[in-house]
Amino acid sequence: MAKMWAGRFQKEESKDVNDFNSSISFDSRMYRNDIIGSMAHAKMLGNKNIISKEDSELIIKTLGEILEDIENNELQFDYEAEDIHMFIESVLTERIGEVGKRLHTSRSRNDQVALDIRLYLRDQIDVLLNQILDCIVTFKDLASKHKKTIMPGYTHLQRAQPITLANHLLAYAYMLKRDYERLNDAKKRMNYSPLGSCALAGTTYDIDRMMVANELNFDGVVMNSLDGVSDRDFTVEIASAISLCMMHLSRFSEEIIMWCSWEFKFIELDDAYSTGSSIMPQKKNPDICELIRGKTGRVYGDLITLLTMLKGIPLAYNKDMQEDKEAIFDAIDTLSMCLKILKPMIETMKVNKDNMRKAAAKGFINATDLADYLVKNGMAFRSAYKISGSIVAYCIDHNTTLEELPLDVYKKYSDLFKEDLYKYINLEECTFKRNSLGASGLLSVNLQIKDINKFLKKNKNN
Ligand code: ARG
Repeated sequence: MAKMWAGRFQKEESKDVNDFNSSISFDSRMYRNDIIGSMAHAKMLGNKNIISKEDSELIIKTLGEILEDIENNELQFDYEAEDIHMFIESVLTERIGEVGKRLHTSRSRNDQVALDIRLYLRDQIDVLLNQILDCIVTFKDLASKHKKTIMPGYTHLQRAQPITLANHLLAYAYMLKRDYERLNDAKKRMNYSPLGSCALAGTTYDIDRMMVANELNFDGVVMNSLDGVSDRDFTVEIASAISLCMMHLSRFSEEIIMWCSWEFKFIELDDAYSTGSSIMPQKKNPDICELIRGKTGRVYGDLITLLTMLKGIPLAYNKDMQEDKEAIFDAIDTLSMCLKILKPMIETMKVNKDNMRKAAAKGFINATDLADYLVKNGMAFRSAYKISGSIVAYCIDHNTTLEELPLDVYKKYSDLFKEDLYKYINLEECTFKRNSLGASGLLSVNLQIKDINKFLKKNKNN
C-alpha cells in the first residue's frame, strides 16, 4: 500500500521497516473508535464550513459503511498498513476519492490516536467495572451464607483470633469496591477530548473542539494542545488500578490455594474449576488460582512498561508512545479474563465448615478473650494479657486447652476467674459477640452487607 506520506520520499521504505513500524496488528481493535471519532470530526468540519456539507455527509455515510463491512467480515484489515488510522482513511479514499482526502483537514494522527485510545479505554473500563461489581456480588452473597461459619483468623499465618468466613469474604468485597472506585476515577480524569490538538500546535482553521467533545460524550477538551497529544498518563493510572485489583485477586487466589491443600481442607473447588495431574491420580489442582497469581506479575510488567516508556520522551508526540497499546490492552484483557473465571469458581466451591471450625478450636485462638474476661472483671489489660499468656503456656505443657482447664487451676492465676469464664471463651460466643464496627460478629457483618448493597445499588445501573 502506498504511504500517505509518500510525497516527501524518493524511495519506498524497506519491508522490515514497514513491519517494525506497523501497529495495525494490535491497534486494529480500535477500528470502531477510530471511525466514530472520524465521523464526529467530519461532522464538525461540515458544520464549520471547513469542508462542504455534502462532503461531510458523504464521508460520514461512507465511514458508517466501512464500519458495517468490518463488523460483517466483509472488509479485512490490511496488515501491510501502518496503523488502523491509515487503513481506515485509505479505504475511505478508495471508496470516495478526493472527498475522502478531505477528512484529515485540521487533524493529525497524533490527536487521532490520542482520541481513539481514550475512547477505546473508556469502553473497556466500563466492561471491567461491571465485572468487578459482579464479583463483589459473588463475595457478598457467599458471605451472607456464612455469617455463622467460624474459622481461624490469621496473622503471620499463625492462628490469631476466631472470625467468621463472612467477615473474611467481605474484606475482599471492600477491596474490590476500592478497585472499582479507582478505575472509575481514572476514567473520569481521562474523559477529555484531545482532538483539535492536531499534530501538536493546534490549527489556524476555525474548528470547534467542544462540539466534537460533546458528540463523543467527553466531559470537555484537553486544554493544552501539546499535552493533548503527548501524555499517556491515563494509561498508567488505569494500569495501576488494574495492578491493584490483580494484587487483590492474587492474594485471594493464594488463600484458596492454601485452603484447598490437605493441610487446610477448608474448601473444595468444583471439578469444573480445577485440574488433575498427568501422573498423580489423587491430585486436584487449583490451577486457576495459580494462574491468577502468576498473571499478576505480568500485569505489573505492563505498568512498568508504560511508566518507563513515558519517562524520557520530550514533548510532544514520539513514536515510543505506540508501545502504550500492547501493554494497556494486555493489562485489561488479563484482568477481564481473571474476573470472568474467578466468579464461577467462587460460586461453585464447597466450603468445609467443619474443618474450619475444628481449626479454629485449636491454637488457643481465644486467649485474647480470656484476657478480656479478666479486664471486664476489673483487671488492667496488660496484667490480664500476662496471666492469659501464662495459662496458655501451662496448657501447652499439660497438653490441654483453655476450654478443658479446670476452674481450680484458673483460680491459681487469679481470683477473678469464675465459672462463667467458660461461657466467655466459648468459640461461638467470642466470635459472634465481636460486634464493634467492621468486626466478625453477626450485627457488624449485617451492617457491612447492607453497606455493600447500598454501593451496588448506586453503581449497578451506571
Ligand atoms: N500508530 C501510531 C501510535 O500508535 C499512531 C500515531 C502516529 N503518528 C505519527 N506521527 N507517526 O502512536
